[in-house]
Amino acid sequence: MRYLSIDTDPNTARVSRIGLGTWQFGSREWGYGQSYAGQEAHAIVRRAIELGVTLFDTAEIYGFGRSERILGQAIGEDRESVFLATKIFPLLPVAPVVEQRAVASANRLGTRQLDLYQVHQPNPLVKDGTIMRGMRALQRVGLVREVGVSNYSLERWRAAEHALGSRVLSNQVRYNLVDRSPERDLLPFAESTGHVVIAYSPLAQGLLSGKYHRGSRPANRVRATSSLFLPENLDRAGDLIAALREVADAHSATPAQIALAWVIHQPAVVAIPGASSVEQLESNVAAASIDLAEDEYHALHAAATRFQPITGPAMLPRMFRARFR
Ligand SMILES: NC(=O)c1ccc[n+]([C@@H]2O[C@H](COP(=O)([O-])OP(=O)(O)OC[C@H]3O[C@@H](n4cnc5c(N)ncnc54)[C@H](OP(=O)(O)O)[C@@H]3O)[C@@H](O)[C@H]2O)c1
Repeated sequence: MRYLSIDTDPNTARVSRIGLGTWQFGSREWGYGQSYAGQEAHAIVRRAIELGVTLFDTAEIYGFGRSERILGQAIGEDRESVFLATKIFPLLPVAPVVEQRAVASANRLGTRQLDLYQVHQPNPLVKDGTIMRGMRALQRVGLVREVGVSNYSLERWRAAEHALGSRVLSNQVRYNLVDRSPERDLLPFAESTGHVVIAYSPLAQGLLSGKYHRGSRPANRVRATSSLFLPENLDRAGDLIAALREVADAHSATPAQIALAWVIHQPAVVAIPGASSVEQLESNVAAASIDLAEDEYHALHAAATRFQPITGPAMLPRMFRARFR
């Protein structure tokens, strides 16, 4: 495993460049079922710890608290060797509510300290002054070590930091070969100022593994409602998958591993892929040791630029047809 070189609290674990996302744990929308929530998820976490993964990401809304519970139980005695991140959904972003919700998350996770407490998304109506007041109080009493945000623009990330009065360590955003928008300003900012971009959906929810195509589309709710998995878009992704395969062959790797290696090629980025099995977790962890040559990196960039999925209103009739056909 490789780790981020950034100064964090010396009492926390180092942050692994490949972490584990746990939205899948106990969430109906992923549809992995009871035996996944009851056994496989536990086995995934245990194997991840064995392989040197320290960064584990969850949220109070994943499975309405089930993800936090499953993760906390699986980590068990190994709490000191992991970097535990969870998120608050800022429906009512006032300080007392923030404090109470942090305590509830910590209880579900079975911990006395959250290494990273993130605001899940910007509240469109309320600025961050009130939520950051709560975060400050949580840091003061030692329940929260680092504060982070998620789905924030650069402007709002900086405003949140101003409101907190100290570093807002990270911004968790979608970053993968299909969505490279963080490259515009978030990545340069993070790299030049000692902040971190946590890349979610680094495999574009499995699309970049190359296993899905027109004749084999994922059925669960998350992806059935995603325009990316429309037959037309899966066709369009063929070129990008072929480019991933070509680089993968040169490294005796898989397209999914190359997609992850591409994401963490940027020094300020860590990736938190989800996994539906221990095998996937093992494969994702191994991607941390793949070094892409500059020409490979740029070839993937070029293939990604050529991929133009159908988005916006044009996709609606297609979504409808795909759903009810
Ligand atoms: N902050 C936010 O707003 C936000 C939003 C989304 C996600 N997240 C976080 O980011 C994490 C990851 O994002 P994500 O789950 O959306 O997408 P992802 O990590 O890109 O995709 C995960 C899915 O890809 C497939 N997969 C994983 N490893 C694979 C491998 N080695 N080979 C082939 N297929 C593989 C699995 O699905 P199948 O096996 O079923 O194909 C898995 O469930 C989440 O768990 C969550 O913690 C945060």
